[in-house]
Amino acid sequence: MKSLKVVVPLLAIAAILMVGFAYSGLYDVSASAPHSGIVDWLLSTTSDASVKRRAKGILVPDLGDDAMALAGVNDFDAMCTGCHGAPGQEPEAIGQGLNPSAPDLAEAAIELTPAELFWVTKHGIKMTGMPAWGATHDDNALWPMVAFMTMLPEMDAEDYQAMLARAGGMGHHAAADDDAGHENVDAVLDDHSTHPHDPPEVAISQEPEEDHSDHQH
Ligand code: HEC
Repeated sequence: MKSLKVVVPLLAIAAILMVGFAYSGLYDVSASAPHSGIVDWLLSTTSDASVKRRAKGILVPDLGDDAMALAGVNDFDAMCTGCHGAPGQEPEAIGQGLNPSAPDLAEAAIELTPAELFWVTKHGIKMTGMPAWGATHDDNALWPMVAFMTMLPEMDAEDYQAMLARAGGMGHHAAADDDAGHENVDAVLDDHSTHPHDPPEVAISQEPEEDHSDHQH
């Protein structure tokens, strides 16, 4: 009881100081200045742990096939390189102004499992520039990009251009006929996924903790 009398007022003071700090405008939210060390640690540790936890239990289709990655390269080129860059390609202006910066996905593909790459691609990361592509794309359109990302660590600029050239018409962002692109991606998933994609959300990925996590905030 005695310790409660000390702890409760201290917590109240801490809460008042935090709210006061929030309203004071002292914290620099500009994207042109880095976070302080402790804030950076807190945010990145929270984010890494959150991704790891939520990616558990996702069923990963067979990504080891060249055809699957080939089906994702045009979409990757259209949707991701502006911020992340690509082999032999720097990020565009939008990517250069981001804070936190959009990391090199060749490194991310070494550090993250395919399930984690998929989770981040689908759900994005709050309060960063990383969008939730799952808001506009179903899982069948995202897995080929994940397959492609797993090849990035071994890929140089020449390989990347060669792959783009081979992938004409594949993916919904292909330069060729859009509908044909969609059919190609679906055909690849039909052939190589360990699970049929009907309905795609359930068949290809399972995210058991999702129900709770999305409603907490
Ligand atoms: C508008 C800019 C933007 C676009 C476009 C974008 N990203 Fe990102 N992405 C980011 C930022 C910023 C981060 C870093 C977030 C952080 O620090 O937590 C990120 C992080 C990631 C990560 C996690 C990397 C790691 O090391 O933890 C993956 C995977 C990823 N993006 C994949 C993609 C894919 C795939 C696409 C295209 C479908 C894409 N991104 C398009 C901005 C973008």
